[in-house]
Amino acid sequence: MSAPTTSDCNQDAARAHGSSLQRLVGRHSWCVLIHGDCRDVLHEMEADAVVTDPPYPGREDLFPTDSVWTVLRAVQAKWPAFVFWPCVPDYPCGTPDAVHVWHKSIPIHPRSQTGNVAGHQYERILSYGLGKKCEVFRVAAIIPNFAACAEELEKHPTQKPVALVAQLTERTKAATILDPYMGSGTTGIACIRTGRKFIGVEKDKRHFDNACERIRRELEGALL
Ligand SMILES: C[S@@+](CC[C@H](N)C(=O)[O-])C[C@H]1O[C@@H](n2cnc3c(N)ncnc32)[C@H](O)[C@@H]1O
Repeated sequence: MSAPTTSDCNQDAARAHGSSLQRLVGRHSWCVLIHGDCRDVLHEMEADAVVTDPPYPGREDLFPTDSVWTVLRAVQAKWPAFVFWPCVPDYPCGTPDAVHVWHKSIPIHPRSQTGNVAGHQYERILSYGLGKKCEVFRVAAIIPNFAACAEELEKHPTQKPVALVAQLTERTKAATILDPYMGSGTTGIACIRTGRKFIGVEKDKRHFDNACERIRRELEGALL
């Protein structure tokens, strides 16, 4: 596996915007991880598809959402994409070709106002240019003290299960996948497990460092 080159993801552009960068290379895949604001680097990125889980409107207590609409519109204009999206707000960037349901397969909590321990029972995955068939993905959510995904849990408040995201990366048929809202790097892990190359951007230094460490471990252990 050859290392990513400058043209693979415009690394100079990322540096010019003050973003720092990690290149991690395994036997069968590589990942380029950028610490910075995706708005600064997105227009220069090269990839075949986007799989992303942006900050959700209505959850500004977790992450600022000011970038989301602009970024998702730019993504939709340039790449086929799977975009995680909550069950209530309107679509962020035009009517999708398909709307998948992520059924979180979690127990009902009797004292929860929303009906279960994690909030809503499902989230949506919007498909732009990646097929018109609507599907339901049943994969247990990652919740502290919930055994189904306990061994996967990182220090990120909205971490998605690799088993779910890997089904999306697999469906893209793309060689290189971009996630402008990388978080703890789940899309990167899914890319390695499904034989894709990965470019991820994350603004928060703690989450960026966590993603680097997690993806490094995965690349070292990958038996693809
Ligand atoms: C919903 S989380 C993604 C979680 C990820 N799917 C995972 O499994 O860990 C969204 C992430 O986007 C990051 N973020 C928010 N605004 C950003 C921006 N403008 N550029 C890059 N990252 C940003 C947040 O720090 C957060 O970690």
